[in-house]
Amino acid sequence: MSENQQHTLMDKIISLSKQRGFIFQSSEIYGGLKSAYDYGPLGVELKRNIMNEWWRSMVHERENIIGIDASIIMHSKVWHASGHLAGFSDPLVDCLISKERFRADKAPQPKLGDELPILCMDKGQAKSFQEIIKKRFNVELKRNGKKLEGLKVISNDSFGFFTDDSNTPLETFQFKGYVSPTFGSPFLSEERQFNLMFRSQIGPVDVLNEISSFINKSEKINEKEIRSGIDEIIKKSAVYLRPETAQAMFVQFQNCQQSMSMKIPFGIAQMGKSFRNEITVEHFIFRSCEFEQMEMEFFVEPGTQKKWLEYWRDARMNWWQSLANNPNKFRYRPHEKDELAHYADACYDIEYEYPWGYDELEGVASRTDYDLKKHEEHSGSKLSYFDQQKQDPETGKNGWRYTPYVIEPAAGATRGLLVYLLDAYHEEKIPNSDGSESSRVVMKFHPKIAPIKTAVLPLVKKEGLPEIARDIVSKFFKAGINARYDEQHSIGKRYRRHDEAGTPYCITIDGQTKEDGTVTIRDRDSMKQERMNAENVVDIIQKKLSLS
Ligand code: GAP
Repeated sequence: MSENQQHTLMDKIISLSKQRGFIFQSSEIYGGLKSAYDYGPLGVELKRNIMNEWWRSMVHERENIIGIDASIIMHSKVWHASGHLAGFSDPLVDCLISKERFRADKAPQPKLGDELPILCMDKGQAKSFQEIIKKRFNVELKRNGKKLEGLKVISNDSFGFFTDDSNTPLETFQFKGYVSPTFGSPFLSEERQFNLMFRSQIGPVDVLNEISSFINKSEKINEKEIRSGIDEIIKKSAVYLRPETAQAMFVQFQNCQQSMSMKIPFGIAQMGKSFRNEITVEHFIFRSCEFEQMEMEFFVEPGTQKKWLEYWRDARMNWWQSLANNPNKFRYRPHEKDELAHYADACYDIEYEYPWGYDELEGVASRTDYDLKKHEEHSGSKLSYFDQQKQDPETGKNGWRYTPYVIEPAAGATRGLLVYLLDAYHEEKIPNSDGSESSRVVMKFHPKIAPIKTAVLPLVKKEGLPEIARDIVSKFFKAGINARYDEQHSIGKRYRRHDEAGTPYCITIDGQTKEDGTVTIRDRDSMKQERMNAENVVDIIQKKLSLS
């Protein structure tokens, strides 16, 4: 796919999402909140269907997995123990010219001898950046349309300013090894650590009061001391929005295992919201600050983790593929040693071929006994397992107490939703009755995740047809099938609308229905229509849905 086509597909998905009610920009009437999205009438159904399918396949269909629904705000010691408070941070840098803030570890890294053009949005911006650079750094870069030229990397830690006719730099500056991603600017601030967790305060403590009296009482202290003093005050009542759903499963390991008499190997599953103050928010809902996860911690005997890692890698891959039109767009990628998270001894990413290339959809990690051990250490509670049937490998005696190892399939539910939007999107040319062609957009969702399962459409809004249609809809409701009554616009427009919503079956009530009690069922993908008895329609759709 060319770069242009990639952009177009993403643009089309974003526009269809808004038009059809899948996803809206959060707080749009106030100008929108960056990186926050609202799931509209079709989006909420699609998201729930994906998550319910995950729950069914992970919890309901397995006797060795149980579920929990833990609170989003947990004790702050949880995040100390898990390492998130210490290590959950990104190195951040500001461009001194454009004020762009970005992650240093993700920035482009020009090589020795490379030119460093500053790429502006337009000529006006080029002029203004040229002036800022002249004022702050005392060099006048050459303006070439939207580009500012004259900078070049001269060593690992320096870049220089050159004029057209000189090979020696007129001025040199410290080079950090990377440039800002949007403008390519090497004029950068120092790196700062930035915690990705959203912090808030719990309880009746008046933090502002404590801070102001601390500042009031402190004489002659420097900025660093003020900062650390304020930090100490805030920390006392600080709580954090969870950045992953996983930790609750470790913290509740003992309660879950004992209350349900679970035997190893067994798993605890949870799905729900997670929050990260992401610096790089990108690709629509791919990376956002508020998102949903579907995670499962599978507790296994030490030494068996490799076998279970492979088992879950394959099981999870099969699940994603089973709901997709294009299973060949998924692949897995083992992590290199240097990209493993601090708690993992091995990991596979399940990746999808997004319009910008292969990228992560789910991580399946072998998390060792790191988390249980850490929580045991910080809480003082025993988080181990006793197997009466096994011999302790160290003593040779019957009965073995050990800290289980953990395999964790951790998927993004909202990211999965983006994958299935991309996977479902189809444009087709279809013949008209007069021999000409028109095009239709059809969202070929797997019927299990389709937001609306069937639409019931009276051909006209009179002659008793709406009453028959509503009666059929109520039968679908009784059968637990999400059906929708729809009488707005011509029948052709309604079919197109439901093609774009991804509704697998449309049932049309027409004049003949009144004569012989039959209706037509239109298949979304083939557009073929079958006529059948209205009495059987709920059973038939039910059968089609369960067979799909
Ligand atoms: N407990 C392990 C864990 O949270 P992760 O790779 O950071 O691992 C798991 O997250 C999945 O959650 C990712 O594969 C991705 O699908 C989803 N995810 C993570 N950060 C996200 C974000 N900012 N926006 C949307 N989805 C995200």
